[in-house]
Amino acid sequence: MNNELLNKFLDLYGGSDSNVRMFVSPGRVNLIGEHTDYNGGYVFPAALEQASHILVRRTDTGKIRLAATDLPDRVELDINRLDQYRDLKWGNYQAGVAYVLQQAGYTICSCDILYHDTVPLGAGLSSSAAIEVVMALTLATFSNEENGIETPVDMIEMAKLAQQAEITYCGVNCGIMDQFASAMGRKDHAIFLDCKTLDFKYVPLVLNGYKIIIGNTNKKRGLADSKYNERRSECEAAMEHLKIAYPDADCLRAVSVEQFEDAKTLIQDEVQRRRAEHVIYECDRVLKSIDALNKGDLHSFGHLMTASHISLRDLYEVTGLNLDVMVEESLKIEGCIGSRMTGAGFGGCTVSIVAEDAVERFVALVGENYEKRTGIRPSFYISQAADGGREVK
Ligand code: GLA
Repeated sequence: MNNELLNKFLDLYGGSDSNVRMFVSPGRVNLIGEHTDYNGGYVFPAALEQASHILVRRTDTGKIRLAATDLPDRVELDINRLDQYRDLKWGNYQAGVAYVLQQAGYTICSCDILYHDTVPLGAGLSSSAAIEVVMALTLATFSNEENGIETPVDMIEMAKLAQQAEITYCGVNCGIMDQFASAMGRKDHAIFLDCKTLDFKYVPLVLNGYKIIIGNTNKKRGLADSKYNERRSECEAAMEHLKIAYPDADCLRAVSVEQFEDAKTLIQDEVQRRRAEHVIYECDRVLKSIDALNKGDLHSFGHLMTASHISLRDLYEVTGLNLDVMVEESLKIEGCIGSRMTGAGFGGCTVSIVAEDAVERFVALVGENYEKRTGIRPSFYISQAADGGREVK
């Protein structure tokens, strides 16, 4: 365990280090399949090395005490009043998870927690899912120990409960992708996930001479939550019209590209039609991406990524100037074979596939040109795909 972190914990809460434990759950980057998860579609995320870490010790105070290394806030949650903390500026995600687990029958134990987050906040890399999943894992582990249950915590269930907390407690009507990737990530693999059935497959990220580079526009995701919920409603409205032609289809992903082309005029509202078009073609791009990667055809995968960005820009309208400029500048660099926004959009990060020998040039030139055009200095991360939520012993 990191000594500096442990000392911080002991400074805050006192006592000795003997019962202090560490849990961790990562952020994610989505490689392709954007705004498809809440339409029962396919996604292809990988967990990152950047993660949310918890140092924790059980207590008998009837409280969950929360602190974080990067914030002055201290929060105390009464474990018998967990539904009361929706308005907290910081701590509401954790309270939401504790509340939802309690409602699901877990015994919530008192404890002292110190968070240490290395996922950049509000950058579209699922810092909130990482915070939620590590909290869920910690509390479920204690609950199992309290009740003498020896089976390991079910991480897919943790992902579902964390998502439920975000929707019902924090008011963001999100899909399952972020929490699933954070809970279930695997080193050197991405996850091909069917968000309707939750069937999934780990796909090795064999990138033969290429790297995945994440570019942070450092433009925070303003207004993202309300626009996010709006997009979701637009998709649901489009689906109602498509149901006239395909009564058995229960989500946009259940409509194929061909079926959509045959029936799209049923969606009279042009905006709704564009939203559906994005989702249905994006699901198809995910399938084609998996196919291309299985054949070792990285260039086709890169093209699909760029096509995804264009669709998110023109049809789904969730990119904005900063993401568009960064993708444009990225694609100008020789050796960059695909680039797109990742996550919800409206600011945040891009993901690009770049030849190893072009990485240095890419970071320098995209950095310079993006800053020239937007006035903001970007950041770049070269992260390997990492494991999902776990206890660090
Ligand atoms: C956010 C949500 C996810 C997903 C993406 C867009 O990250 O939390 O569920 O919808 O946006 O693909």
